[in-house]
Amino acid sequence: MLQYFIETFGCQMNENDSEKIAGMLEAMGYKKAGKPSEADVAVLNTCSVRENADDRFFGHLGIYKALKNENPNMALAVCGCMMQQGHIVDQIKSTYPYVDIIFGTHNISAFPELLESHMQNRDKQLEILSDGPIAEGLPMAREFSHKAYVTIMNGCDNYCSYCIVPMARGREKSRPSSLILEEIEGLARQGTKEIMLLGQNVNSYGIKPGGEISFAALLSKAAQVPGIERIRFMTSHPKDFSDDILDVMSSYGNICKSVHLPMQSGSTSILKAMNRQYTQESYLGLVKKIRSRLKRASISTDIIVGFPGETEEDFEHTLNCIKEAAFESAFTFQYSPRRGTRSFGMLNTVPHKAINDRFARLTDMLHRIMLEKAEGFVGSTEKVLIEGASSKDSSLLTGRTDSNKLVNFTGSGAAGEMVSVNITKAQTFYLVGNMV
Ligand code: SAH
Ligand code: SF4
Ligand code: F3S
Repeated sequence: MLQYFIETFGCQMNENDSEKIAGMLEAMGYKKAGKPSEADVAVLNTCSVRENADDRFFGHLGIYKALKNENPNMALAVCGCMMQQGHIVDQIKSTYPYVDIIFGTHNISAFPELLESHMQNRDKQLEILSDGPIAEGLPMAREFSHKAYVTIMNGCDNYCSYCIVPMARGREKSRPSSLILEEIEGLARQGTKEIMLLGQNVNSYGIKPGGEISFAALLSKAAQVPGIERIRFMTSHPKDFSDDILDVMSSYGNICKSVHLPMQSGSTSILKAMNRQYTQESYLGLVKKIRSRLKRASISTDIIVGFPGETEEDFEHTLNCIKEAAFESAFTFQYSPRRGTRSFGMLNTVPHKAINDRFARLTDMLHRIMLEKAEGFVGSTEKVLIEGASSKDSSLLTGRTDSNKLVNFTGSGAAGEMVSVNITKAQTFYLVGNMV
């Protein structure tokens, strides 16, 4: 019996692509291996968003060198966002000759063919396309049964000056709404309770080629699919988060009142240099509007510290905005220059020491706000979708609230069941409670 092992780096889009790669391998008769050393085919699906993502990948390639020494018949494939950059492919070809198959983000459907050719001739296979449509009709081996990713659009035309994604994922394209709804209906029939609509910029759904209705219209249709108890979506770009999205969100009980709204910076001049196309005022205005339209809304964000030219004053604007927006959660990153982006060559870099210092102050403030927000849950009863046993303590169950907060709790039930949990304690990153 042939076995495969896939390692996925990066965002949910990559995770969903890996589910498709796994689906194609299973259709070819491969079974999922428990560990990489058992694999006949190993696939590394890469992310290139920051330098440390690239570094982790190259570190992993070293591990696979040892595995291939033990099992020279193992086919090693690498794919994903890093492969869309010529200099990385060149580096792999020159320094990591034991990589057998290289493909990109636009041709994952070609993988079975590339693998077959490699298996027959034991030669190298390389195919990268500069852009292409979203592959339809691929089998998927989904990671979870209670929740599922549904890609609605792919690519990005926003060209934030620091970001590699437009290069890695190509131009924005949307899937036809009929195919998206068919996918959601199929998931509902299999008992999936929660779906996450995915795109680099979901608000652009239907604007660029492919989709024929707006994101708000799609969201409302998705909410009407019987059996889907929770709908989430990400990522929303603040510049085009429209009122009709809020109208739809407030009209359907099964659309989670949580919005991932990357702020990146609280300084209007840095936002301009980042090409984000909104200001501090318009961002905070949007947060205010979301909170007033959606009761108990949960807003999460992404923040970059140390973008070139960021002064202490700019950074203080970011801290002030965080206080004012009072985010329920945030992902924080230190600026990482990416080759091929507009900010790559900027000379006004921020010294490391200042970045580290700002980063520490930022996380300190965020964690204080997150804990305060979490403490607000204590004493309330929350609807929690069970995900399984807690990884910290197997006598506890773990699940998520509507607002995507992790809850560890006593009780019984299977993954996919919606239960009520009385919250007794709050930590920065999770809640504790008892099932009622
Ligand atoms: N489409 C999403 C984000 C995709 S990347 C959006 O528009 O928000 C996820 C996050 O990584 C970004 O929000 C940003 O905060 C961070 N990021 C992207 N490029 C980066 C870079 N060069 N350095 C540091 N952080 C970066
Ligand atoms: Fe990157 Fe900006 Fe596009 Fe998000 S919107 S993927 S940060 S270019
Ligand atoms: Fe990384 Fe590509 Fe996602 S660069 S963040 S895996 S779109």
